[in-house]
Amino acid sequence: MLEVRAVCEEELAAVALCIARAFRSDPDDIRGMVEYFHNSLSGDTIPRLENTRVAVLDGRVVSVVLIHDRQMLVRGVPVRLGFPPLVGTDPDHQGHGYGALLLWDSAEYMRREGYHVSLISTETERFYERGGWSNFGHYHKLTLRIPEAIPAATALAGEVRPANLRGDLDPILAIFSRNNRDASGPAVRTRRFWEEFAANWAFDYPIYHVAAVGRRIVAYLRNGYGRRLVEFGVLPGAEEAGFSLILHACREAPGSGGGGS
Ligand SMILES: CC(C)(COP(=O)(O)OP(=O)(O)OC[C@H]1O[C@@H](n2cnc3c(N)ncnc32)[C@H](O)[C@@H]1OP(=O)(O)O)[C@@H](O)C(=O)NCCC(=O)NCCS
Repeated sequence: MLEVRAVCEEELAAVALCIARAFRSDPDDIRGMVEYFHNSLSGDTIPRLENTRVAVLDGRVVSVVLIHDRQMLVRGVPVRLGFPPLVGTDPDHQGHGYGALLLWDSAEYMRREGYHVSLISTETERFYERGGWSNFGHYHKLTLRIPEAIPAATALAGEVRPANLRGDLDPILAIFSRNNRDASGPAVRTRRFWEEFAANWAFDYPIYHVAAVGRRIVAYLRNGYGRRLVEFGVLPGAEEAGFSLILHACREAPGSGGGGS
């Protein structure tokens, strides 16, 4: 029997394994992915079982769509966004239509719940198009090669240090809000979001750094595993401090020769 519905509490471990097996084949990678999934459930969204949609075949979870419930700014106005960061079908069950069924169920769920929009950036456009999403073709990704010799930060650039997401939260929030108040696309970040993010995500290196001039924080940067500049904010007039944050991230990047890992 096939059921397409919200997950039950006791199925969460099976859901994590299904997602992990969809994305990874090496057992160590699968374990890491299971951990990532648990972080994702508890750290980056408002955890609700209804937001995790599953296809269950004869009692076994075979396909999963996780929906993050967020507010997104459109020209500064918040709209409700359903963001599906993880969609996966167990490799033993791919190609049988479970993924497509779940996408339909997820779209229906979001309509029912009053979401305004659902966005995803993906390289599997055809799959999402089958589920009813449209391709806007507006996504840009920039890949930069780190130069052999990374220029030194200027003397004016201020001090770069790892952020303390509790103590430094007010200035980081202020920079984020100021930078994005008229923008379209960024998620609305409540204080609670940052506090839960800070409390629940465990990384073995500091992902946020700040630049301070005197005691004042004027820029921040979020680093994605030393390989991506995920997020960057700087106050007007403090661009040099922002620049030194970027140089710092380049120096720390794996393979840059700067000692990063
Ligand atoms: C992508 C994925 C979720 C599809 O699940 P599934 O249950 O096998 O999908 P379905 O059987 O419902 O296939 C639905 C349609 O999408 C297409 N499709 C499946 N995987 C696709 C892919 N990687 N790229 C493009 N189209 C794809 C199928 O061909 C099918 O179209 P068709 O009916 O015209 O042949 C599954 O292949 C998977 O878990 N992949 C690894 C994780 C991943 O890449 N997730 C998506 C990005 S977050």
